[in-house]
Amino acid sequence: MIFLKSAEEVELIRQSGRLAARALDFAAAELRPGLTTGALDKAIEAFIRDHGAVPATLGYRGYPASSCISINEVVVHGIPGPRVVREGDLVKIDVTTILNGYFGDTARTFCVGEVPARARALAEAAEKAMYLGINEVKPGARLGDIGAAIQNCVEPLGFSVVEYFVGHGVGRQFHEEPSVPHFGKRGTGLRLRAGLVFTIEPMINEGVHTVKLLDDGWTAVTTDGRLSAQFEHTVAVTPEGWEILTLS
Ligand code: MF3
Ligand code: CO
Ligand code: CO
Repeated sequence: MIFLKSAEEVELIRQSGRLAARALDFAAAELRPGLTTGALDKAIEAFIRDHGAVPATLGYRGYPASSCISINEVVVHGIPGPRVVREGDLVKIDVTTILNGYFGDTARTFCVGEVPARARALAEAAEKAMYLGINEVKPGARLGDIGAAIQNCVEPLGFSVVEYFVGHGVGRQFHEEPSVPHFGKRGTGLRLRAGLVFTIEPMINEGVHTVKLLDDGWTAVTTDGRLSAQFEHTVAVTPEGWEILTLS
């Protein structure tokens, strides 16, 4: 079941999305070497609650925290805890809020202090790929156009696109149809219509695209132990093209 959102619903997702983006701005200001990911998560949770929203990940399918904080070789769903942030780390923070019943989902990669050139290049590629994917969005375009744009951006740089995790419809539920792969062929896949709202959240790996799950059942790491970067926006298909709903 694919839900098309009314203008009123898009506005509610925009309000939730703006708060999620502001929570990332807040997290970015807090982020520094020596901080534990658990302490950062608690601060993010307080920020979200102080603004009248609920952290969507807390208790979601048993997930135990208010954000996902994934460092270096951790691709996604890093569980905040005792791990200490260090100079040179690539830190991915993913925040999802529920405000007035609507979800806003956004993530960014932050470089802590001086990071290796290759790490910075990876983060920049992930961000550029996300925006190139977003730029494909308009009524009549296909989901495959988004994936192809992302792949064509990062693969010539020697990086790879994670296939195991995909973007997703979002609105009154965290994860709705459709699935939004970050790879694919132009002219294939679901045809986009105004009112569709979904995330574009490419995970880009320095080495191989494969991931493995740790024993905690959540933490996904690169199988080769090399770096991964991710950016995520919640995007609406508009009559003219696209609108990012997770801007601060
Ligand atoms: N925010 C993630 C996404 O982009 C989902 C996290 S689910 C969790 O879809 F349970 F791991 F937090
Ligand atoms: Co998402
Ligand atoms: Co997310």
